[in-house]
Amino acid sequence: MNNVLTAGRAAVITGGASGIGLAAAAHFAGLGMHVCVADVNDEQLADARALLEKVDGAGSIICTRTDVSDLNSVESLRDEVTSTFNDIAVVMNNAGIGAGGGAFGNLSGWQKVMAVNLWGVIHGVQTFTPLLVEQQKPAAIINTGSKQGLTNPPGNAAYNVTKAGIRALTESLAYELRNIDRCAVSAHLLVPGFTYTGLISKHIPEKPPGAWTPEQVVAYMVEKLAAGDFYILCPDNDVSVQTDHLRLRWNTEDVVKNRPALSRWHPDYTAEFEAFVNTPQD
Ligand SMILES: NC(=O)c1ccc[n+]([C@@H]2O[C@H](COP(=O)([O-])OP(=O)(O)OC[C@H]3O[C@@H](n4cnc5c(N)ncnc54)[C@H](O)[C@@H]3O)[C@@H](O)[C@H]2O)c1
Repeated sequence: MNNVLTAGRAAVITGGASGIGLAAAAHFAGLGMHVCVADVNDEQLADARALLEKVDGAGSIICTRTDVSDLNSVESLRDEVTSTFNDIAVVMNNAGIGAGGGAFGNLSGWQKVMAVNLWGVIHGVQTFTPLLVEQQKPAAIINTGSKQGLTNPPGNAAYNVTKAGIRALTESLAYELRNIDRCAVSAHLLVPGFTYTGLISKHIPEKPPGAWTPEQVVAYMVEKLAAGDFYILCPDNDVSVQTDHLRLRWNTEDVVKNRPALSRWHPDYTAEFEAFVNTPQD
């Protein structure tokens, strides 16, 4: 059991002023934790503060402007957090944007999404990990990835690359942490399903029935964190955990079976893929 979420300890959440990050902040505050929300959006930060300060039993609340793509900004965040809280239980590197582009073209879109989604998480890991290790107490680093980083669906190669990078980084981090003598810090890859948040409401005005709420994602994350899981692969109302597992197996077998890249979306493999995911498994 991984029980880092305890009253009186602190949680730092990037991209915490909206969506999954805000739902996590509210949940942690409800446990009596101190919460630091770091986000680039001032208006949402003010709204987040108002909401979090109303949470029953919440510890101290910090809502601070941070641009995760800028290392100096993340270092200032660390300094602000450590000058206020002396026991950090959770760092959630969660800030993300959806922009990007296809495999070629839109170079500025690539640079932007790489800077926020991937460099943002790298900055968070670089800045906070040594601090958590030095505390010599149980703590968790949760990085928000995506199924797009696991199965690489066509449509937004740049975003997929950032999320595949977060997976590689977080797996490496978990390995390195468990090889430090007596280290009680764990790393976790949060992989939300389709979740109705600010990222999605920009494009779709009402929550589609298939989407989960951010609160559902956080409840699932907390349950899996308590179980000590590294991969926190969330279902949604359309996609079960079993379907995700089959899609992942198919994706991996592209390499093993020497199929064309992204065969799941190749017309020659449509029938085989459908049969694979619809065949009951043991
Ligand atoms: N919503 C989904 O279906 C879904 C699915 C898989 C993964 N995710 C991931 O979940 C994470 C949270 O996104 P969300 O869906 O809650 O969206 P959201 O837009 O509601 O929240 C993202 C937050 O990140 C902040 N942000 C953006 N750029 C930033 C920067 N440079 N520095 C600091 N903060 C910044 C935004 O202001 C916003 O408050 C993202 O990493 C996203 O890629 C979301």
